[in-house]
Amino acid sequence: MTGTDLIQVTDDGAVRVVRMNRPDKKNALTGAMYAAMADALAGAARNTGIRCIVFAGAPGAFCAGNDLQDFQRAAEDDEGLSEPILRFLHALAGSRKPLVAAVQGPAIGIGTTMLLHCDYVVAATDARFATPFVNLGLIPEAASSLLAPRLMGQRHAFALLVMGLPLDADHAKACGLVNSVIAGSEVDAAALAAAQKIASLPPEAVLATRLLMRGAPDEIMARIDEEADYFRVRLQSDEAKAAFKAFFERKK
Ligand code: COA
Repeated sequence: MTGTDLIQVTDDGAVRVVRMNRPDKKNALTGAMYAAMADALAGAARNTGIRCIVFAGAPGAFCAGNDLQDFQRAAEDDEGLSEPILRFLHALAGSRKPLVAAVQGPAIGIGTTMLLHCDYVVAATDARFATPFVNLGLIPEAASSLLAPRLMGQRHAFALLVMGLPLDADHAKACGLVNSVIAGSEVDAAALAAAQKIASLPPEAVLATRLLMRGAPDEIMARIDEEADYFRVRLQSDEAKAAFKAFFERKK
């Protein structure tokens, strides 16, 4: 195993598993975690032995989104999306290896928007998807403003991205966000089996077909950067600062 304690990277034959492992914070992602995930993707890109990548979380949570304390700090320090976040988003959009995800529990913010870059998604019956960026005074990231309407259609994407309405697992499947919904205890194994199936196929044919289906990543990369410009402005907004404060004061 490589990576950090909070991001565990394990290679199982030709499949690389990148596991978010901060269960006490529902896998909210810190800068160091984004950096480790970007490194895992960059390492996989250089390694011809790796043919597929699986993102997994903990039983209690796939990912609660960006660490809101980090966002609070960035807002105070007049910063935008950090270098590790942008490096991860570009690595995700630029990945030439197929991406699979195993989702249990909440997948919030980047926990959902990263799935728009994945090729195959297995969800547990308790999976719950939400992108409350607007509720937080922010705007969506990870090129989700481009990819969500493309994948789900404009109306489902509006309900998700603008209205912040959560999707349960069955609804996510109906919208095309996930491939299958199964018991939580079976999710990791099913995602690994799908990844192994993909890894067993002729890799050059997989690469060419995937590229034809997705198109060149330039448009997606450009949207990531365009969203990041807006995001920086929104992070400094009174709306966002009030929302971060409210989250951390909600239990008082
Ligand atoms: N950033 C920082 N800490 C977070 C977090 C986040 N995005 N999400 C959860 N946590 C922390 C909580 O503060 C709490 O810490 P504490 O035990 O020190 O108080 C811990 O993780 C557990 O969260 P809690 O809210 O108690 O668990 P829950 O099961 O009731 O709810 C969530 C889980 C994910 C639904 C809820 O935590 C949540 O809505 N988180 C914020 C999601 C979000 O808005 N993300 C940003 C999207 S852009």
